[in-house]
Amino acid sequence: MTWLVTGGAGYIGAHIVSAMRRTGEAVVVLDDLSSGDRGRIPDVPFVQGSVLDGELVSRTVTEHGVHGVVHVAAKKQVEESVRRPLHYYRENVEGLRTLLEAATGAGAASLIFSSSAAVYGAPDVDVVLEDTDCRPVNPYGTTKLVGERMVEEVATATGLRYVNLRYFNVAGAADPALTDRGVSNLVPMVFQRLTQEQPPRVFGDDYDTPDGTCIRDFIHVGDVASAHVAAARALDDGRVDALTANIGRGEGVSVREMVATIREVTGTAGSDWAEPVIEPRRAGDPARVVASADRIRDALGWEASYGVRDMVESAWAGWTSPAPAG
Ligand code: WQD
Repeated sequence: MTWLVTGGAGYIGAHIVSAMRRTGEAVVVLDDLSSGDRGRIPDVPFVQGSVLDGELVSRTVTEHGVHGVVHVAAKKQVEESVRRPLHYYRENVEGLRTLLEAATGAGAASLIFSSSAAVYGAPDVDVVLEDTDCRPVNPYGTTKLVGERMVEEVATATGLRYVNLRYFNVAGAADPALTDRGVSNLVPMVFQRLTQEQPPRVFGDDYDTPDGTCIRDFIHVGDVASAHVAAARALDDGRVDALTANIGRGEGVSVREMVATIREVTGTAGSDWAEPVIEPRRAGDPARVVASADRIRDALGWEASYGVRDMVESAWAGWTSPAPAG
């Protein structure tokens, strides 16, 4: 039995591939390398191409004896999704539709879908449960919510078994070679500023939170990967047929707290020039988004094992190490 991991050459996908192989799962990767890096997964069976190529997906499923798919390949930049909604609908919604049609048509019977906390939008609750209203506030979040519904409805029609996993704020690196080399989220954005000897930017300090800055649930990418291993095992041994679950730590950390930790780890805590500057709020940012992770614990026996310091230290190790060859 083999798992097909789409987007397996990306930051999160490569961590999932590494964790699945380490625990004995057979894996093949499909990635168009539009943002992925082949050097992250040098010794893994690999097919270069897009999930939008149904023929290629079908052939890959058949030739590799794929029984299940971990679908990570997607566009995930919120700001870009606002500028280019149709691009996000094509890549994230049409891409999933094509993948589902081709993979199930060729015999795959399980799916783990990479969803996001972005499906909740700006939840007005202290802790976000999976039953919290989903009101996405940007096209990226909408494509993930539509994706979840598509998976559920295909499952009803075909018997597909699935786990939808809603990632909260992913950070860190299980290995420096796998680190996130994009600069579209808080931790790498602050790294970039500090390595240019510029102060970190805090987008708004007038929120209704203890220190006025936004609060998020940061989750180590290694924990995200282990959640996928747990989901794959639960699907393979029949313990789960249909599950939608948050992946978070259940602990809120503010932007100001995260910046302070980053400054300690990068050795800039004592540098006056590294004092964060307050900038205007960023449109669409909710004040607080913190997960309840009870459902995934109860259903899969999974819990996060890394803390914020682990995330920042491992991300910094990746940021300061050379990119892998290839
Ligand atoms: C976090 C907080 C910013 C940079 C993203 C996306 C998506 C999803 C969840 C997977 C916000 C503030 C940031 C900076 C700052 N993940 N910030 N200064 O927007 O919570 O959500 O992660 O699907 O990727 O929805 O993440 O890292 O962009 O911002 O003050 O230089 O940090 O305003 O409050 P976000 P983020």
